Amino acid sequence: MHNDITLFNDESHRFILLNESDPGDEDGIPSNQYLILHNGKGTLLDPGGFGVMPQVLNVMLQYIQPQDIEAIVLSHQDPDIVGGLSSWMRLTSAKVFASRIWRRFLPHYGLTHMRFVDIPDEGGNITLNSGLTLSFIPAHFLHSPGQINVYDPLSKILFSGDVGASLVPLDEKANHADVFAQNFSTHRQFTEGFHKRYMASNRALRYWVQQVRKLDIDIIAPQHGLLYRGQVKDDFLDWVYDLPCGSDLFELD
Ligand SMILES: [Fe+2]
Ligand SMILES: [Fe+2]
Repeated sequence: MHNDITLFNDESHRFILLNESDPGDEDGIPSNQYLILHNGKGTLLDPGGFGVMPQVLNVMLQYIQPQDIEAIVLSHQDPDIVGGLSSWMRLTSAKVFASRIWRRFLPHYGLTHMRFVDIPDEGGNITLNSGLTLSFIPAHFLHSPGQINVYDPLSKILFSGDVGASLVPLDEKANHADVFAQNFSTHRQFTEGFHKRYMASNRALRYWVQQVRKLDIDIIAPQHGLLYRGQVKDDFLDWVYDLPCGSDLFELD
């Protein structure tokens, strides 16, 4: 488990991996939470589940106060993303951006402070009050039917949600000096099973890779596990482009 790490920093703009939160059950998947600081305001990307909320808040407070969080982006509808949202919505006055297809389902998490902004299927750019521009990149069916990635053009970081997620054993993590995968051929074993079972189809992966390759990306930052940059990032994109997964693996009569 790592502590908070600044992935990009200039005078007015900072992209931080807040921490890797452990849900408190050995079977629960740890998750990455990210904070973008821009001109003194904050944007949280996938703030995490109910159990990790206090840990995330604790680290976030080192950087910014809750009243200065202007936006929360949900990559999709899962509990490891939305589970803590009710507390975040009470603590902040942030707008919450999520795929339009999940709006009517999210109230079932017990959310009463409705400040949702729909992200259309085709994604698009939004500029917040701080002047921060976020680019929403569709990643539908990877794995959620309404999955949204966030590209930050200033840091050239793509927050990829569950795409690229890995579950790296603790003893293996101890070999890592930082939060980046070092070599895709050795990292692949920690991400392959997840992509084959959770991603809907190779067609969805190929579409995503085609969109992502149009962007100038330094880092791919997923919601679980290690991050990708340099050659490992390129090797990851090549691999998922050709990966049969999800419904591709059904054997039809
Ligand atoms: Fe998910
Ligand atoms: Fe996830």
